Amino acid sequence: MCGIVGYTGGRAALDVVLDGLERLEYRGYDSAGITVQAAGGLATGKRAGKLVNLRKALADDPLPEAAVGIGHTRWATHGGPTDLNAHPHLDDDRRVAVVHNGIIENFAALRSELAARGHVLRSETDTEVVAHLLGEVFAGDLAEAMRVVCRRLEGAFTLVAVHADQPGVVVGARRNSPLVVGRGAGENFLASDVAAFIAFTREAVELGQDQVVELRADGVSVTDFQGRPAVVREYHVDWDASAAEKGGYDYFMLKEIAEQPKAVADTLLGRIGTDGQLTMGELALELGPVEKVVIVACGTAYHAGAIAKYAIEHWTRLPCEVEVASEFRYRDPILDRRTLVIAISQSGETMDTLMALRHAREQGAKVLAICNTNGSTIPRESDAVLYTHAGPEVAVASTKAFLTQLVACYLIALHLGQVRGTAPDPAGLVGQLCAAPAQVGRVLHTMEPVRALARSLADAHAVLFLGRHVGYPVALEGALKLKELAYMHAEGFAAGELKHGPIALIEDGLPVIVVVPSPRGHSVLHEKIVSNIQEIRARGARTIVIAEEGDHAVAPYADHLIRIPATHGLLQPLVATVPLQVFACELATAKGHEVDQPRNLAKSVTVE
Ligand code: M6R
Repeated sequence: MCGIVGYTGGRAALDVVLDGLERLEYRGYDSAGITVQAAGGLATGKRAGKLVNLRKALADDPLPEAAVGIGHTRWATHGGPTDLNAHPHLDDDRRVAVVHNGIIENFAALRSELAARGHVLRSETDTEVVAHLLGEVFAGDLAEAMRVVCRRLEGAFTLVAVHADQPGVVVGARRNSPLVVGRGAGENFLASDVAAFIAFTREAVELGQDQVVELRADGVSVTDFQGRPAVVREYHVDWDASAAEKGGYDYFMLKEIAEQPKAVADTLLGRIGTDGQLTMGELALELGPVEKVVIVACGTAYHAGAIAKYAIEHWTRLPCEVEVASEFRYRDPILDRRTLVIAISQSGETMDTLMALRHAREQGAKVLAICNTNGSTIPRESDAVLYTHAGPEVAVASTKAFLTQLVACYLIALHLGQVRGTAPDPAGLVGQLCAAPAQVGRVLHTMEPVRALARSLADAHAVLFLGRHVGYPVALEGALKLKELAYMHAEGFAAGELKHGPIALIEDGLPVIVVVPSPRGHSVLHEKIVSNIQEIRARGARTIVIAEEGDHAVAPYADHLIRIPATHGLLQPLVATVPLQVFACELATAKGHEVDQPRNLAKSVTVE
């Protein structure tokens, strides 16, 4: 959700914080604001809309020079995206300023309490109560004031604050919401994500749950909410600033789609020995007693899990359930110590997934995270983690994270299958996985017709997606991409369900994208989907068929044929998804939409 930056050091704080906010804008772009701690007190600028609006406002009305500052880019929860609701929020005396990510659940009670004591709350946000509370309890030590206030707050929050009467100090706090420290020489940083300070330092400190951090130019100290010194984990970020830049592409999404061959290769790296054997030392879990696998995730990560189910059940003969994380814990799922829960999350901060994993652990299940973000909460709270090593994914629409999540799932399924002795021909499967980077690269080189087709469909009112077997979740993912980027009605269906209702949607000219299973691996399914294509074509659909090279049976029924390399049937999503990503990106561009920052969305959803 929101992006937060804090800085103290020798540089111009305004520039550092604005630069950081720009790199965090993917987290929310409803408004942006900044407070600097200058010689004469705090100075604040904030504007509704994207960061560019704030930049314009500050160019017209500059803030004073300062070496300490905090900033915020917002995804609105409480109160609309207005100038007044933009962060930072200040207390009555304008001595303390605070930015916040998350939701303070008891804010209404705190607000009434503050109003009764004579405070004037100006915004509609839950955040403003924190500024007033900090102002009330501050007695020369902002970190101590923060600890006192945090003990009164309920919900999920990252808070970062400065006080006019404590020069050089920035204080942060976190509960269930991300915050990392960047350690520099004579300067220090706070941010929701290392991307905000990666241009200045790659040395990071992971903060734990319920901790308060005090930042000065020459030091960092961390305590829990009671004031006891806390143990933190320091780590080196293994990518640099250029990885979080567009590198010549018009959009991050285009860059991230293009990076997929390398991202997939990086996920495999170090996990397959020269002898072709899996080397999965990270899975330091006792897998022998596992009797059931449950996958929890949201959005695109859920689709990766839905594909993984097919591989896990086929290769391990263990039952596997997949569930959207937001539904999981509320239905009292059956879990015990023989259940392996796999939590998939690019950001590692998705609140629904985090809550699902906590529930699973409370019931005694072991949790294995698949994650792309080092130091984030989900891997930290899991029993083991497989990092995808896809590098930073900045575009809101997930692409390379999805493919690398799939690879991680396949590796886990194969490893489990080996442990159980159930995987058919593991060496052959490993070999096919190793071919994936090159195959994804080949798909990327043949995308021009897909782009042209997407442009020609910019005025379509809806697009349907069909698939069978692993092609079904691929269809769901294709539809999700189109919804979030092109704001079009897009639905994915299991092709076999067509006759049970959705076929009524087919009308003259309606574009329907069909993901066709390999005729070699699944000849029966293949025959059935060829029939489905004929059925929809007979009713006027414009058929766009994704089929593997050499599959001639589909050609007569395809108005547009998109070829993908032949793969093992279970691995086909690695190549079949790529045209759908390109299609959605191009169609959104043709409609003039902001590809990297679709309306109403944020990259990581840190509230339930
Ligand atoms: O960071 P996560 O993988 O946990 O995020 C899960 C979803 O919010 C995410 O995949 C979302 O669906 C994407 N924007 C889809 O492109």
